[in-house]
Amino acid sequence: MSQPIDIAVLVSGSGTNLQALLDHQGSYRVATVVSDRPDAPALERARAAGAEAVVVTWTGDRDDFTHRVCDVLERAGVAWVVLAGFMRILGREAMERFPDRIVNIHPSLLPAFPGANAVAKALEYGVKQTGVTVHFVDEEVDHGPIIAQVPVEVLPDDDVGTLHARIQQQEHVLYPAVVDALVRGEIRVSGRKVEWRKQ
Ligand code: GRF
Repeated sequence: MSQPIDIAVLVSGSGTNLQALLDHQGSYRVATVVSDRPDAPALERARAAGAEAVVVTWTGDRDDFTHRVCDVLERAGVAWVVLAGFMRILGREAMERFPDRIVNIHPSLLPAFPGANAVAKALEYGVKQTGVTVHFVDEEVDHGPIIAQVPVEVLPDDDVGTLHARIQQQEHVLYPAVVDALVRGEIRVSGRKVEWRKQ
């Protein structure tokens, strides 16, 4: 592939997944990073890598917030929108303006443990296996068609920190690989079915 495809990464926190995505640029380029929090350490990672870093402040109105985020993404001219630890739920306008173009990573094997604190919920439940899911984003939380999953074993002495650290190791490998396949056109979605096809 000659020209990299521009993507946006949406963040709220530390941005280790953003860092993995930045470190694996090639078929894609992280053109812009959007955060709802001005103090997100992820913004520093974006700037250090030469990507545009934009703060879109949450004001309590999801539709208005979604509209402003979409305007930033459209202005940046990105082909894909990659959520990486982004703690806001985007409204319908985002799905309409970027249909089948928004993906998210979640630290559990969905549909188990959607929403916040997925690692703690898995530990509390006592599952022996949890993991990572990358999925397309729809209007429901952690619900859209599943693109890829990697299991992670829960060890007897795990706490949230140790388990999340092992989950994140998998995330940092999986997410850049999925984004690479997306921009190469190797992933097709139809309804809830997601197909991987080598070009
Ligand atoms: C990741 O575990 C991701 O699965 C979840 O939020 C966390 C973000 O971590 N959605 P980071 O900001 O990428 O370090």
